[in-house]
Amino acid sequence: MHLLIPAAGLGKRMGGDRNKLLLTLLKRPLLTWTLRAAEASERITWIGIMGQSYDFKAFREILREANLSKPVELIEGGVTRQESVYNGLQGLPEGAEGVLIHDGARCLATPQLFDRCAIALESCSGLIAAVPVKDTIKVVGDGGIIQSTPDRANLWAAQTPQGFEVKLLKECHEKGKQLGWEVTDDAALFERCDLPVEIVQGEETNLKITTPVDLAIAEFILQNRS
Ligand code: C5P
Repeated sequence: MHLLIPAAGLGKRMGGDRNKLLLTLLKRPLLTWTLRAAEASERITWIGIMGQSYDFKAFREILREANLSKPVELIEGGVTRQESVYNGLQGLPEGAEGVLIHDGARCLATPQLFDRCAIALESCSGLIAAVPVKDTIKVVGDGGIIQSTPDRANLWAAQTPQGFEVKLLKECHEKGKQLGWEVTDDAALFERCDLPVEIVQGEETNLKITTPVDLAIAEFILQNRS
């Protein structure tokens, strides 16, 4: 199974102007933790990392230290996550049939989650890891006034990995590009193309590191794991 890791963001919500994946968690860069899980996965055989070219030097240093046994390619990222994944898809080895896409910022995903998604992709063409939402979610309109309260029983929080048949995902990205669709995950492109996307049980600890609080929580989780 091929794995693409979008890692080309800026991390503005983290309050800095540096790629948040280079911040450290228990003395190791965030990206290292993501790569360690990918390395430990039994199913992942190839890894592509999408980054901004000015981060490649730091990424190479991370890869040198991580000393992975699996082949890794660095691929130029884009201005948006969507563009980064588009570029990543073009960088897949020829003949790649299935791909998992996993945000570098979700550095607590376990190897078992990668494997669960890879196995599930053998019997479907699109899937995402997700967990049922715990909070009641409100749809808020202009002026901060609540418009509606969707039934919580139908709501799931989307995570990554998200897995797809490469050919179909490429077509969806092409269509999205032509029609100017702007999405924040790849499943949304599949959905807009009326293709089914299945749910794989995600992990409550599979946080996307976004703000400094997430970093503190992630450190606590990792400490308890080891
Ligand atoms: O900003 P956010 O955390 O939502 O980004 C999700 C993932 O997408 C991160 O791992 C980030 O590095 C990546 N990303 C990207 N290219 C961009 C913006 C974000 O690969 N232009």
